[in-house]
Amino acid sequence: MRILVVGGAGYIGAHMCKFLSEHGHEPVVCDNLSTGHRAAVRWGSLSETDIGNPEAIDLLLGSIRFDAVMHFAAASLVGESVADPLKYYRSNIANTVNLLDAMRRHGVRRLVFSSTAAVYGEPKANLIDERHPTSPLNPYGRTKRVIEQMLQDCVSAYGFKAVALRYFNAAGADPSGLIGEHHEPETHLIPRLLRRAAGDDLDVRIFGDDYDTIDGTCVRDYIHVNDLADAHLRALQTLDLLPGFQVFNLGNGAGYTVRQVVSAVESVIGRPLGIQVGARRAGDPKALVASSVRAREVLGWSPQWTDLTAIVESAWRWHQKPAY
Ligand code: UFG
Repeated sequence: MRILVVGGAGYIGAHMCKFLSEHGHEPVVCDNLSTGHRAAVRWGSLSETDIGNPEAIDLLLGSIRFDAVMHFAAASLVGESVADPLKYYRSNIANTVNLLDAMRRHGVRRLVFSSTAAVYGEPKANLIDERHPTSPLNPYGRTKRVIEQMLQDCVSAYGFKAVALRYFNAAGADPSGLIGEHHEPETHLIPRLLRRAAGDDLDVRIFGDDYDTIDGTCVRDYIHVNDLADAHLRALQTLDLLPGFQVFNLGNGAGYTVRQVVSAVESVIGRPLGIQVGARRAGDPKALVASSVRAREVLGWSPQWTDLTAIVESAWRWHQKPAY
């Protein structure tokens, strides 16, 4: 298949392109390089198209025939989304409308969409499955939920085939060391710890140790980026057989506290980092752990990277010698 990977120069998109090309497919990256990296596009060609420009995305879909679209492009910082919601409504919702419109006009009907655990909001269960109520706590989560609803409507109205994959905490890097995570600013726990370990001048603190968890710090479900890529390809391959619009959680089903992550990082790098405890970060739910039973049953997906230390090791390989 020839697949348009929107946001393919970003962290998860680049891993997707490698995975697609290793499985005999042809990725074509569409990325405006606002947060993506030209050097991350090593599998397939790059179209520097901004989906914020309806004519440009229309031209791209009119000039190349695609079997499907995978849509990773989004603004994704929770804090920024609270401070500047319109940026999120534009980058995430309005730009996705442009993309869907161009898909409809050019008869491209298959879409795999990157959604997030942030659509659930404050968890009401220890293990979150797809039936858990969606009540996002911030504009970022709300934009992703609105897009899911748009997709549902497009499936009903235009015969689209669409799947939303709700990621928990994406982590790790491809073992090749060719691609990895590079955000500016970096807000995520594992890359912040590893960048500090690699010598970056980052003040990394534990955001609160007074939560009601085993050690007082927040619990998250870390899932390797290559396992996410695997789930996307499976979703695409299953799409035509699935009725209507579908959502799947993607996580390992195991929660680790922030302190456990710090310990895993220290054991991988072989020395203590002296991380101090700071104040809570606004909007952090105390625990987010996925039930991915549905993805296992329907997509036949089973994460290969189930060990947190192995996930951190793969990321450490990247952060010691990032290629971009
Ligand atoms: N954390 C720290 N110190 C840091 C960075 C993070 O203690 O310097 C803590 C956070 O408070 C949280 C955990 O580490 O408890 C993980 O934080 P991340 O920022 O790495 O990830 P989040 O769980 O906040 O974010 C993820 C996804 C978002 C999604 C969000 C839903 O990356 O896309 O879950 O809450 F919106």
